[in-house]
Order: sequence, then C-alpha cells, then structure tokens
Amino acid sequence: MKANTILLAAALSLAATGAMAQANCNQFPQQGGEALYNGICQDCHMPDGRGAEGAGHYPALARNPKLAEPGYPISVVTQGLKSMPAFGGAMSDQQIADVVNYVRTHFGNAYKDTVKPEDVKNAR
Ligand code: HEC
Repeated sequence: MKANTILLAAALSLAATGAMAQANCNQFPQQGGEALYNGICQDCHMPDGRGAEGAGHYPALARNPKLAEPGYPISVVTQGLKSMPAFGGAMSDQQIADVVNYVRTHFGNAYKDTVKPEDVKNAR
C-alpha cells in the first residue's frame, strides 16, 4: 500500500512535469541573440551563417545585403517566408529583436541601427 502511494505520487509528479513542459514548449527558452541563433537558426542557416544547399535552399545570412533594411529580417523571422518557419508565435518581441540584431552584426554584416522590441511589435 505504501509502495503504491509512492508510485502514485511519482506518477502524478511526472504528469505535472509533462504538463508544464508542454505549456512551455511553444516558447523558446534561449535569451540573447547568440543563444537564440545557436539554438534555432543555425540548424538551417549553419553555425557560420553561410546557409546550405541540399534537401532545400537555405540562404546565407553571412554578408547578406538584404539584412540592411531591418524590416526585412524582422518580417521573415516573425511571419516566415515560404519554407522558412514563422517564429512570431514562439519568440517574444525582445527575442526576435535580439536574434535579428545578432545576425545583422555578425557573419560579415555590420548594420549599426539596432532593432528594438517595439519595432518587432509593430511588425506583428
Ligand atoms: C527550418 C529551417 C530554418 C530555420 C530554423 C531558420 N530559417 Fe531562416 N530561412 C530558411 C529558408 C528555407 C529560407 C528561405 C526562404 C525562401 O526565400 O524561400 C530562410 C530565409 C531567411 C532569411 C531571408 C534571407 C534572404 O536572403 O532573403 C532570414 C533573414 C532568415 N531566414 C533568418 C533566420 C533567423 C534569424 C532564424 C532563427 C531565428 C532562422 N532564419 C531560422 C530556413 C530556416
């Protein structure tokens, strides 16, 4: 009886943990542009931002003049673009601003005008 109670308690706490994980699973936990890039974007755009060809076309973010106008990467990350998934539902305004600022100032890009969370909010 005692063992059963312990098992039940363990099962309940596992279920609760699962529910919590599920509640959070639509939000990326990473904070900061670099962590977000490494956690999400590099899978498709490669760790050095050079993109990839193969099963699909993943454009390079490295030395990409299309990042000069901040509205473009904000919109692609927030709304998606063809086979690029939309991350607007899974990332906060701050997270999107951070990752956009990161790609616009790394991989040979040096665009100085910093994107703010309000810019992302207006693009949603
Ligand atoms: C599942 C793969 C995948 C992930 C993850 C991904 N992208 Fe993309 N991304 C793409 C594809 C595919 C395109 C090209 C879309 C098209 O034009 O058909 C693209 C296009 C872009 C573009 C436009 C580039 C251009 O030259 O037009 C930007 C900017 C971009 N991605 C940024 C990001 C950022 C920042 C992240 C991380 C938050 C990210 N991507 C995560 C697949 C991905």
